[in-house]
Amino acid sequence: MDLLIKNVRACDPQTGLDEITDISVENGKIVSIGKINRSAVKVIDGMSKLCALPGLFDMHVHFRDPGLTYKEDIISGANAAKAGGFTGVACMPNTKPPVDNAETVKYIFNEAKKTGIDVFPVGCITKGMKGEELCDFDELKEAGVKAISDDGRPVENAELMRQAIESTNKNGLIVVSHCEDLKIINGGIINKGKISEELGVKGMDRASEDYITAREIALAMSCNARVHICHVSTKGSVNIIRAAKKDGVKVTCETAPHYFTYTDEKLLSRDADYRMSPPLRTEEDRAAIEEAVLDGTIDCIITDHAPHAAEEKSDFEKAPNGVVGLETSLAATLTKLYHTGKCDLSKIAEIMSVNPRKIMGLEPIRIAVGERCDLCIFDPDYQWEVIPEELNSKSKNSVFKGEKLKGKNIYTICKGKIVFAL
Ligand code: DOR
Ligand code: ZN
Ligand code: ZN
Repeated sequence: MDLLIKNVRACDPQTGLDEITDISVENGKIVSIGKINRSAVKVIDGMSKLCALPGLFDMHVHFRDPGLTYKEDIISGANAAKAGGFTGVACMPNTKPPVDNAETVKYIFNEAKKTGIDVFPVGCITKGMKGEELCDFDELKEAGVKAISDDGRPVENAELMRQAIESTNKNGLIVVSHCEDLKIINGGIINKGKISEELGVKGMDRASEDYITAREIALAMSCNARVHICHVSTKGSVNIIRAAKKDGVKVTCETAPHYFTYTDEKLLSRDADYRMSPPLRTEEDRAAIEEAVLDGTIDCIITDHAPHAAEEKSDFEKAPNGVVGLETSLAATLTKLYHTGKCDLSKIAEIMSVNPRKIMGLEPIRIAVGERCDLCIFDPDYQWEVIPEELNSKSKNSVFKGEKLKGKNIYTICKGKIVFAL
């Protein structure tokens, strides 16, 4: 036997498993679940306190490769993912050049092979992400792309977006939409409200997000197609999506831990590490996002892991938007939702592993005999402080810096191999 994981609380909502047990692994697959007395090449003892979930999946990260590898590359990004308990990620196409053709997709898959985890390139909606001409979706699909997005920007032309949603629905891809109206944003850099006024900086009106969320839903309705809404941050968007789901619209959505943890009060420090797009909003929004995760309106947790160099983040007003998140996502979610008694472990597995794979149209990863062994093995009670310098990512722009979190990934296992050990 290659690997024996003893005395772990294994939890998988797909099979109903939730018990302290042993998992044995051979040739990358789970060969038994249940107490056994055998030796193995490698033994991990969970001492009845470690928990195991199906390997986490983050369907929204930025690995900056090709082109901006001083911020992150596929190898360093994957190292951050592995440290965070992820055995798969989908990386956004706003690279240099953008991922709008098969050749760039191939480059990413080739780099991904060196990482030991799954890295899926998301393809662009429009050529060069210019919002003018649709990409060849059949070519992107043929190359292995599962989702398309112009993330970082909206597709401003609504008819072009309608065509993208319609044609990807036909060829089995999904549009993943960054909902932001640039005219309404109008140069704003943080949420528009009391805090932006107090700081004397231009605000991003929440209508910029709500308006495009409503537009994408209307477009999906018009072609009876699927659409996925990125990084939901407002109460308004949550309400629109909840109502649409109730009406049977094929809409799914995601949020990131910072949106249910923090508010724009963080910006009072004038620190660009708290700036991202969409921005941290108000307590009313934060509470609405949390509620929507718990009631299933929000399908999954992503990080929008968006590395930027320290020099770029040094000027509060001129810095680019984005925060790293792969190494704090599980801990922040456990701290905010699990340790407060608001949800159980199987809900964490659903929103961080099962649902994102489903939305991307990927094979499910289950903790079951005969299945590929991908696990996130974590200590739910491990208390630690987020020190950016200790992160594996090349960039240190963490919104959780200095935060004390409870819960830490200890081992990441992908295809039966230990790809990370704390
Ligand atoms: O904050 C963000 N940063 N939001 C995005 O949509 C893009 C991302 C980036 O690429 O840095
Ligand atoms: Zn985005
Ligand atoms: Zn993004």
